[in-house]
Amino acid sequence: MENKMEKIISLCKRRGFVFQGSEIYGGLAGTWDYGPLGVALKNNIQNLWWKRFVLDREDMYGMDAAILMNQNVWKSSGHVAGFSDPLVEDLKTKKRYRADHLLEDAGVDPKGMKFPDMDKVIKEKGLKSPEGNPLGEVRQFNMMLQTSIGAIQDDSSVSYLRPETAGGMFVNFKNVLDSLHPKLPFGMAQIGKAFRNEIAPRDFIFRVRELEQMEIEYFIKADSWKENFEAFRKEVWEYTKDVGLSQDKVHELEVADEDRAHYSKRTIDFEFDFPFGKKELYGLAYRTDFDLKAHTVGSTVDLSYFDEETKERYVPHVIEPSFGVGRTLLAVLSDAYTEDNLGGEVRTFLKLSPKVAPFLVAVSPLLKNKPELMTKAREVYNAMRKVFPGRVIFDDNGNIGKRYRRQDEIGTPYCVVIDFDTIEKNTGVTIRHRDTGEQERKSVEEVIEYIKNNI
Ligand code: GAP
Repeated sequence: MENKMEKIISLCKRRGFVFQGSEIYGGLAGTWDYGPLGVALKNNIQNLWWKRFVLDREDMYGMDAAILMNQNVWKSSGHVAGFSDPLVEDLKTKKRYRADHLLEDAGVDPKGMKFPDMDKVIKEKGLKSPEGNPLGEVRQFNMMLQTSIGAIQDDSSVSYLRPETAGGMFVNFKNVLDSLHPKLPFGMAQIGKAFRNEIAPRDFIFRVRELEQMEIEYFIKADSWKENFEAFRKEVWEYTKDVGLSQDKVHELEVADEDRAHYSKRTIDFEFDFPFGKKELYGLAYRTDFDLKAHTVGSTVDLSYFDEETKERYVPHVIEPSFGVGRTLLAVLSDAYTEDNLGGEVRTFLKLSPKVAPFLVAVSPLLKNKPELMTKAREVYNAMRKVFPGRVIFDDNGNIGKRYRRQDEIGTPYCVVIDFDTIEKNTGVTIRHRDTGEQERKSVEEVIEYIKNNI
């Protein structure tokens, strides 16, 4: 399926979804820039998430914390000591690889293996680097991106670009309690950037160094963790439906004890059938009271909760659903990418759900050089824009066939065309359906109603 990924990457560049980061300087590995259509798709993905998990609920509090945080946050959370990947070096070229990836490539499942086990298997099997050279010892490589704050650089100026958005919510738990006085259970939700110095960024936007997460820290009483975990498990599935993912391509994986993050007592990974294999899309973890307790010790600030009803004071436990924005976008794109034969021609189109497609509808005059068609098309465009702000595109480039092809490739579900009958016979406009290529005539009001009912 390499071929499909190449086609998706090429479409993303050609149509302005995703570009290589710093491309004109030769790129920067593990970074990607979202172009105009990528931003539109990403915003729709994020808005659906924010709607489901924040706006439609009474128990959720939105946050937008700083990316740079006091280094002690990450000492307390365990990331300074333990947020690492297994690194192994090509002894000749000095190039570095992920030991678990090399094992996978050699047909060995690295799940559950500690670093010394990986080292042992690599030696036993006599594995070499992809260049065919001998490999060194498997070592821990901390994935946090470190920076220095202020003019003087010493130990105290060290800061990290957050490796997960979660930290910004735990350290603000007391602020939200003190300012909004929520009752348990309640959650904090955040969409934002996170950074990981991945040893081997790969598979386009799947594994990157600068990523975006949509995360919830849901604070509960310890004895209710199972029911809350189940409730979020269902909500994660519902969200995969919101963005239009084929349900048979999403799978749950119960993460084994030895593979869970240091803070988790239970984790389910939601995996997706990407063109390069079944890989992690989202995570759902029961983080217990690990973080609030660790930050209480680290900061010496009491992060407990007083339950007015039972008159008990305790440290809440946490259920954490965590969603990668880029991985959602890649899952949506790879699921939607379709090639078919329409009218005797091979075409490529994105079968995107109208909920996430960058544009809902494209409006065009049949011919560009006819002022009466242009004026009417502009009028229809403006009327539709009022109903679907930001989701209507005016397209008068090239001939109508080229426009349909372009709109198909960016996943626009409907194309509306103003032709001579629209003006001369007042018979309405044509609306073309992306997936079938079929057209019908409707009045502008009917088209608007139809689209409203199909979002
Ligand atoms: N707060 C929990 C946490 O960060 P994680 O499993 O390390 O857990 C959560 O990451 C999600 O973030 C993943 O399921 C994935 O969607 C996304 N993610 C993690 N690392 C990523 C990377 N290097 N590139 C792209 N997305 C990533």
